[in-house]
Amino acid sequence: MNNNEIVLVLDFGGQYNQLIVRRIRDLGVYSELFPYSTPIDTIKKINPTAIIFTGGPNSVFDNESLTIPKEILTLGIPILGICYGAQLIAFLENGIVKTAETREYGGKNIIYSNSLIFDSLPNTGICWMSHTDYVDQIPNGYKILASTDSCKVAAFANIEKRIYGLQFHPEVVHTENGNKILENFVFKIAKAKGNWKMKNFIDSSIDKIRTIAGTGSVLCGMSGGVDSAVAATLVHKAVGDRLTCVLVDHGLMRKNECSEIMSVFKEGLGMNLILIDAKDQFLSKLKGVVDPDTKRKIIGAEFVRVFEDVSKSIGAVDFLVQGTIYPDVVESGFGQSAPIKLHHNVGGLPAIINFKGLIEPLRDLFKDEVRKVGVELGLPNSVLMRQPFPGPGFAIRIIGDITESKLSVLREADAILREEIQLANLQSEIWQYFAVLTNVRSVGVMGDMRTYDHMLALRAVTSFDAMSADWAKIPWPVLEKISNRIVNECKNINRVVYDITSKPPATIEWE
Ligand code: XMP
Repeated sequence: MNNNEIVLVLDFGGQYNQLIVRRIRDLGVYSELFPYSTPIDTIKKINPTAIIFTGGPNSVFDNESLTIPKEILTLGIPILGICYGAQLIAFLENGIVKTAETREYGGKNIIYSNSLIFDSLPNTGICWMSHTDYVDQIPNGYKILASTDSCKVAAFANIEKRIYGLQFHPEVVHTENGNKILENFVFKIAKAKGNWKMKNFIDSSIDKIRTIAGTGSVLCGMSGGVDSAVAATLVHKAVGDRLTCVLVDHGLMRKNECSEIMSVFKEGLGMNLILIDAKDQFLSKLKGVVDPDTKRKIIGAEFVRVFEDVSKSIGAVDFLVQGTIYPDVVESGFGQSAPIKLHHNVGGLPAIINFKGLIEPLRDLFKDEVRKVGVELGLPNSVLMRQPFPGPGFAIRIIGDITESKLSVLREADAILREEIQLANLQSEIWQYFAVLTNVRSVGVMGDMRTYDHMLALRAVTSFDAMSADWAKIPWPVLEKISNRIVNECKNINRVVYDITSKPPATIEWE
């Protein structure tokens, strides 16, 4: 990264770690997540503008818990510890950290004292807590900067050393003025200049892709979603005509999906895009498979097989491009975070890939950052605002085994939902909206006859970056119309339910 300002975020295993990185980048300062075990000498060489210790699931006093040499606190680099990171600072500096009897979770009223890190904030606000351990006694040289009713040490600092600890999560949107707190740390305490822009990301990505690809040829799997479109455009800028794009019809696509993608990308954007019909190949491999991660692994493996075949048929291809983005990586359990689900393009890849290598230019970005890159690259809105569609498609929206007949039922129901959302003009407010064919059958009555048919679930969420999401408050008349149309127009569905769960605790997709 040809930028001399960097905030190093050291990963101690929290689920929101990359979100911290994102918030810092949004402030115009380049930031990257590094393993907690990064050697001190490496950190000294990087000479970051500031360091942030993330949250994490451990207790600082457990023998196996993730830690870092105390020397890091003596480098004169401003440090901010969040949750576990704050407890780690207290522990390393000989303060006392204890385990509470119950976990503290959710929004809490907080009182801030006068301090640079809370500069321009009101004296009180709401902060988001998620912890069991807490700092009972702060170390010598530190002072308490904020408290809640249940947490005396909600923030503390050694002002001279510019080392700060926050028990709450400023990176989470539910913390009022959380961004302002990070901004104060980065600019007022660490004195960053803030000269990082998406343009820098694009330039450095193009350089990196050229270095990896050399004079080799490149193949890109297109799903029609924004990630693969942006990844393909970046790679196209780097290697030009040496890029071939492939759209795989795995039989798990939405109604008319393939023809729409071909018309937008091949006819509209003039990309070198080939459509491969691999329905039988995927569906036969998925026959009888029920477990979500097994489905993803099979799909990941088959995608690569298809790409290998295409590679042979068009002449040797050296590199494969994937539109993997950060939430795919973090939720697949890379770094220190707990695995949530294997995304098909991360953990789902087979061990042996018959290419020289993978190119994943968006691996460190969140969806909204990907869209910003797309805007910068000049992609049209129709591409950038397409709602996300997971690579495994309907395979993870049919709970249980996948059959042709279930696919066609779901395809029709999903099309009705999408049509009605568009008619109600709600598409831009909702992050993702789709139907799920549950594995439940229930009794109904139609035309005086008993039915025993599928239950369909509707899922619609609002989100900022897919890391957290809320169920969309679709007006009841719209839901009513969707439900009526589905039970009337789709054979074999006699019940429609609406999923009103946020993420967390649920995920967006059902599998
Ligand atoms: P979850 O279900 O984890 O989804 O809340 C977060 C976002 O990721 C999409 N998703 C996937 N995308 N391959 C993909 O390309 C996958 O295996 C996969 N699983 C989930 C999901 O649609 C949502 O946008």
